[in-house]
Amino acid sequence: MQKMKLQMPGYNLKKLHLLSLFFKVAIHISDYLVMKLLVTGSNGFVAGSILANCPSHWQVHGLSRTKEIPRGNNIVYHKLDMLDREKLPGLLQSIKPDVVIHTAAMANIDYCEINKDIAEQVNTGITAHLCAICKNEGARLIFCSTDTVFDGSKGYYTETDIPHPVNFYASTKIKSEQEVLSAGSRNVVARLSLVMGLPVLGRGNSFLADTISKLKNGEQVKFPENEIRTPIDVITLGNALIELAGNDFGGLIHLAGNTRINRFEMAKQIADALGLSEELIVKTDSSKMAGRAPRPNDVSLDNSKARKVLSTPMLSLADGLALTMNF
Ligand SMILES: NC(=O)c1ccc[n+]([C@@H]2O[C@H](COP(=O)([O-])OP(=O)(O)OC[C@H]3O[C@@H](n4cnc5c(N)ncnc54)[C@H](OP(=O)(O)O)[C@@H]3O)[C@@H](O)[C@H]2O)c1
Repeated sequence: MQKMKLQMPGYNLKKLHLLSLFFKVAIHISDYLVMKLLVTGSNGFVAGSILANCPSHWQVHGLSRTKEIPRGNNIVYHKLDMLDREKLPGLLQSIKPDVVIHTAAMANIDYCEINKDIAEQVNTGITAHLCAICKNEGARLIFCSTDTVFDGSKGYYTETDIPHPVNFYASTKIKSEQEVLSAGSRNVVARLSLVMGLPVLGRGNSFLADTISKLKNGEQVKFPENEIRTPIDVITLGNALIELAGNDFGGLIHLAGNTRINRFEMAKQIADALGLSEELIVKTDSSKMAGRAPRPNDVSLDNSKARKVLSTPMLSLADGLALTMNF
């Protein structure tokens, strides 16, 4: 049998070797050029929207504490309790993220009020540790804070207003904000208004999903009329956080919708838009809701800075609701 000869016109082995070397170098360089993003709390409500909306050419990693839920393609999931101080630095050293969006938190205000120790460890301790690791690794940190850092006596808060907490959760967030901002001028503290929407990937803390399910079951739902917010839909929020990860903004920014509304009115408008019974929505006052930690009255946020800095549009309640319901 005649020996087969690999014949490629115009190519010899030396050329092929050079070509393969070129591709290896190109892959190595692209490793540095492609944005590497790590999203903590990847099972959560806000993280789900970030992970679902990231540009497909980014290298995206999610970090969750409990068992991973199989989700979006192209996302590498890591399972770790961030309280594990030994393992967290090693994980970041192996991922080498350019940016970390830190959504992981103990976000249940009432739980934090009666479990102060663990709330402090998770909300403040983990954030401080992450700040130090990101600083060492040269990664930018984007921290998700809250409108409730304010005491609610004024409303339409801007980034220059001074926070003053009325509950323990808010005090853990204020301490974390200070850690993040003092750890680096490229770091971001994004104060989120009440987040409205349905979970996109994973689960999480969605009052809308809860309310829809109760109304559909014919159950009454109570909403405090004294709590005034500027709700932001979860899709817009995810996009805004992604944009912040991709640009060079550093500092404080308020991410909030354009509609300032009390929570009772908000629930009625949502029920109306979704064709659900408004009759089951009952007006109450924060002080009459037993077992609840104190809440600030009016923590509506002024979103002028976000509208100036970001190309992601901030939406009205009606537009945000439509966006999240049709996603
Ligand atoms: N939702 C809102 O209306 C709102 C408003 C203002 C600010 N924020 C802030 O925005 C961020 C995201 O809120 P969210 O509504 O998405 O909260 P969420 O749904 O409760 O998600 C938070 C995630 O943090 C994770 N986590 C908690 N402890 C952890 C630990 N020790 N190690 C690793 N992961 C841990 C949880 O993971 P597991 O699921 O694995 O336990 C959870 O999935 C939070 O920082 C919150 O304070 C939210």
